[in-house]
Amino acid sequence: MESTKILLDESEIPQAWYNIQADLPEPMPPALHPGTREPIGPEDLAPLFPAALIEQEVSQERWIEIPDEVRSVYALWRPSPLYRARRLEKALKTPARIYYKWEGVSPSGSHKPNTAVAQAFYNREEGIKRIATETGAGQWGTALSFACGLFDLECMVYMVKISFDQKPYRKAIIETYGGTVVASPSTQTEAGRQILAQDPDSPGSLGIAISEAIEDAASREDTHYALGSVLNHVLLHQTVIGMEAELQLQKAGEALPDVAVGCFGGGSNFAGFAFPFMRHRLDHDKDDLRIVACEPASCPTLTKGEYRYDFGDAVGMTPLMPMHTLGHGFVPAPVHAGGLRYHGAAPLVSHLLQGNHLEAKAYQQLECFEAGVQFARSEGIVPAPEANHVIKGAVDEAIRCRETGEEQVIAFNLCGHGHFDMAAYAAYFAGDLEKHEFTGQMLDENMKELSELPTM
Ligand SMILES: Cc1ncc(COP(=O)(O)O)c(C=O)c1O
Repeated sequence: MESTKILLDESEIPQAWYNIQADLPEPMPPALHPGTREPIGPEDLAPLFPAALIEQEVSQERWIEIPDEVRSVYALWRPSPLYRARRLEKALKTPARIYYKWEGVSPSGSHKPNTAVAQAFYNREEGIKRIATETGAGQWGTALSFACGLFDLECMVYMVKISFDQKPYRKAIIETYGGTVVASPSTQTEAGRQILAQDPDSPGSLGIAISEAIEDAASREDTHYALGSVLNHVLLHQTVIGMEAELQLQKAGEALPDVAVGCFGGGSNFAGFAFPFMRHRLDHDKDDLRIVACEPASCPTLTKGEYRYDFGDAVGMTPLMPMHTLGHGFVPAPVHAGGLRYHGAAPLVSHLLQGNHLEAKAYQQLECFEAGVQFARSEGIVPAPEANHVIKGAVDEAIRCRETGEEQVIAFNLCGHGHFDMAAYAAYFAGDLEKHEFTGQMLDENMKELSELPTM
């Protein structure tokens, strides 16, 4: 029988995270203080994050040791399996060999606990008692609630309102793990009240929820803030995905993939999977290794955003980050891939895109659901709406191989399951998924707000 799953032993959980900052061909522009507009220092971040994470944010060390306590929690679900998608290959009649890394086996159902556990651990080490955060689709809030529970921390989650309404069971699972969750914009913070005063029916956005969580954390001594994506340390923690996948591909008798694909919201699952492969591109081991990020056409940060300084949140409390942005005031259309509705991009990914080390593609939600349903019917797993974007990207690559006859290796990160997203699938089967275009006019409108901000 041909093998389908490539499994690793628990002893093969990586010992260290891979820090791509050590291998960047050009240095990254610094993040700037929102008030002074000078490069930020560790003291600016100290009210929000523990010292260990601030250090990781700027570290130039290639390998950062994973604490034993974190590895032992990882062992609840890691190493995650790598699958050869033989049935999908057959359905697509492609000569390509398709592999997917399955992160939906984590307790909360996505890649998010890889960083949630690490962040909870370092906060507990620093004596913090409570963490405030935002969540889009609910995956991050669930993961952090799970992680906080393990390290005896309270967890306060501001959940983007549209997702809060679309996914009532998310609230229940966050509460099951011990966290507290409110719909954002909420009346609990000044930022939320300000947005509600302008638009009482606001569907919310990740940018707004981030503003609320930061305000919460900054106003309490016992509370820190945790972000589920975008920041360097978050991407760092996710590299366990790509490192395991690299070893698993070797065990499957493959060299490096020809194409590595990930879906893109803020950039953490994409980078976690792709950066360990990107290393081989940057050191010229495999110059033609292609890396593809797949994002929603309704929130096309990498494909249509401008590369410039912008705030990470909606009201301008975070440092100014050098990134592709659609403007911090942009509220993306209420597509079902809630976790991809973010106006900005991880600065590390933006920097590498500027250097042409990756490609970005934007897809409509309908074509993503088509690909996701085809995947479910051949491989059996029902993907999260976010993950349908990476499947669409991988399917397109496989079809390209069918047309050219190339026997390439396509590897992608299946970042989460869709068991809490069946309302989205029901809308798809009912023919209710809407098409959303992002126009040049929308970009011009959003960019007006940024005219006073420093440029690069
Ligand atoms: C399943 C899933 N995939 C992807 C994302 C997007 O985040 P990121 O780009 O940081 O991986 C999310 C965010 O909530 C998610 O829940």
